Amino acid sequence: MTATVRIVEVGPRDGLQNEKAMVSTADKIELVDRLTATGLRSIEVTSFVSPKWVPQLADAPDVFSGIRRAAGVSYPVLVPNEQGYERARSVGVEEIAVFSAASEAFNRRNINASIEESLARFEPVMARAKADGVRVRGYVSTVLGCPYQGEVSFDDVVRVSERLHCMGCYEISLGDTIGVGTPGKARQMVRAVAAAVPVDALAVHFHDTYGQALANILACLEEGIAVVDSAVSGAGGCPYAAGASGNVASEDVVYMLHGLGIETGVDLGRLAETGRWLAGVMGRETGSKAGRALQQ
Ligand code: HMG
Ligand code: MG
Repeated sequence: MTATVRIVEVGPRDGLQNEKAMVSTADKIELVDRLTATGLRSIEVTSFVSPKWVPQLADAPDVFSGIRRAAGVSYPVLVPNEQGYERARSVGVEEIAVFSAASEAFNRRNINASIEESLARFEPVMARAKADGVRVRGYVSTVLGCPYQGEVSFDDVVRVSERLHCMGCYEISLGDTIGVGTPGKARQMVRAVAAAVPVDALAVHFHDTYGQALANILACLEEGIAVVDSAVSGAGGCPYAAGASGNVASEDVVYMLHGLGIETGVDLGRLAETGRWLAGVMGRETGSKAGRALQQ
């Protein structure tokens, strides 16, 4: 297994995009700044998607302009099209993430486009990003199951991952959007994709609906994965994926990795404190078991 793992903290974006209670812009900025202080090196800040589709993140430009960016830390944002790219660039974004899915039915509901149409939309975004020196990450959703079509074939996961990689995404994050995967299947899926895209260009992104996320991550680490997406306090869910629950909690991932002797560069105590603070902002208890345990 890898000696170090890069955690991609998606809490400010994936964690808050489905939140019923509106989190204030000031609290979102404080969240990102607190996360920066934990030693995380990748923090997904927000989404420049249509505010009609995701009103929770309509304040993306203000959030991005308000955070204190630290040297050596990436602050990617989600971008679905050229309009999003322009909005993001106008406030100084230097890394973006584009997103598609392995399932047609989900992609249609999430971004109102077929997989092919979504990839075509990304072409001009990729070209502009290349010219501007902007790094692009790519997400593939529904890699272990779709809320609308059920089973998703590994062939489709491989095909979309390979396309995004060939288009210039430096890393492909494989998303179990509704958290239905189990470790054996997660391992097989990563093996299938790694035959087409180098494993060091792959990341995993698990939602924890069935409590399988940590086990899935461990199986994927054993396949050579060294980048893991997670959300502080276990916040999260996609508004266009029925039944999707929170992301795996960053605190729980970091606790497991440190226990395995894998370095993350993250201060677990500070991260857990941030998770409890965020839970307070959202009016509930932290969704991280490690976060709760460390409080005692
Ligand atoms: P559409 O309605 O087909 O697009 O939406 P449109 O081009 O017809 O635009 C509709 C309106 O939105 C227009 O405004 C546009 O100007 C505006 P109007 O003329 O009606 O006033 N608009 C925008 N405004 C701001 N920024 C933009 C933008 N684009 C259009 N970028 C669209 C298509 C892609 C825009 C829409 O479907 C959308 O924004 N979808 C985003 C959904 C989303 O954010 N989902 C969650 C993220 S994905 C996820 O969570 C999965 C992941 O975590 C991995 C995993 O777990 O699997 C990444
Ligand atoms: Mg997600």
